Amino acid sequence: MIESKVYTESVPFSITEVGDRHDPTRVLLCSPDHFDIIDEKNVHMAGNIGQTNKELVQEQWSSLKNTYDGLKERKVLDEVSVIPGAMGCEDMVFCANQTLPYRKADGREVVIMSKMRHESRQREVPHFEKFFSGKGFQPLHFKNADLFEGMGDVIPHPQKKLLYGGYGHRTGLEAYQELAAMLDTPIVALELVSPKFYHLDTCFVPLSATSVMLCRSAFSDTGFKIIEQLFEKVHLVPEEEAVKYFSLNAHAFIANGHKIAILQKGSTVTLQILKEEGYEVTELDTSEFMKSGGSVFCMKMMY
Ligand code: ARG
Repeated sequence: MIESKVYTESVPFSITEVGDRHDPTRVLLCSPDHFDIIDEKNVHMAGNIGQTNKELVQEQWSSLKNTYDGLKERKVLDEVSVIPGAMGCEDMVFCANQTLPYRKADGREVVIMSKMRHESRQREVPHFEKFFSGKGFQPLHFKNADLFEGMGDVIPHPQKKLLYGGYGHRTGLEAYQELAAMLDTPIVALELVSPKFYHLDTCFVPLSATSVMLCRSAFSDTGFKIIEQLFEKVHLVPEEEAVKYFSLNAHAFIANGHKIAILQKGSTVTLQILKEEGYEVTELDTSEFMKSGGSVFCMKMMY
């Protein structure tokens, strides 16, 4: 049995010893009705206040929704739901951040409610609590930790009962101790050392139980060593590509036996890696959302 605690320096186990976990098959989106750029919450937003094109926003989001709907029709996904964006919640479309839904070993479904760093984003969280409660998930709240941004910073090891947790910008390291106890799962905490990669989902994409793609400059030496310990194959994506195209914010997942990736168009190295790894890739344009520091992965929640 692997101890359910936070690992920061190294891991005293190999991935083959970690128990299996069921990968999710449902997708939640949030419509961009009130999407806007009104401040600079991350370095990518600099100079972009007021710079969104409302028509393009709708068009790009609809292409994303159509892509997921198509996957549902093909029975790759079991369900696609949409929460309407709320007024005064300019970043709510990024619905990877407000929660962390999790199926426990005994089959019970819980959802961890985030503690968002920015005040305007804190208002988004109750909308998601309502959605997941309606789906039968038990909401769990942090008692001590005050910074946690859900699946923006927590990414599971495919098929395994192991989580990776980014910290340093939006989530604090302290949150992971509480999270490991709430979910009864081991967590590898990875320090994010560059402001360009302020959420783990901007720089780290597990592709299978044995492979991952990432941007080296986002991680400390210690963090990178642990990743190398847990994945046989580590594909490196150049920082320039990861920043310009948010290519490591791709949504790459395995569901119902299919390997699917949805990726911002324009990248070359990332696209090649996904193809090598056997992924069926759809390229989309998310340029309006990249102005706010996010692309495909953060515009959906998978649960
Ligand atoms: N403007 C949003 C923020 O700074 C973007 C969030 C993107 N989400 C993500 N998981 N990377 O909070």
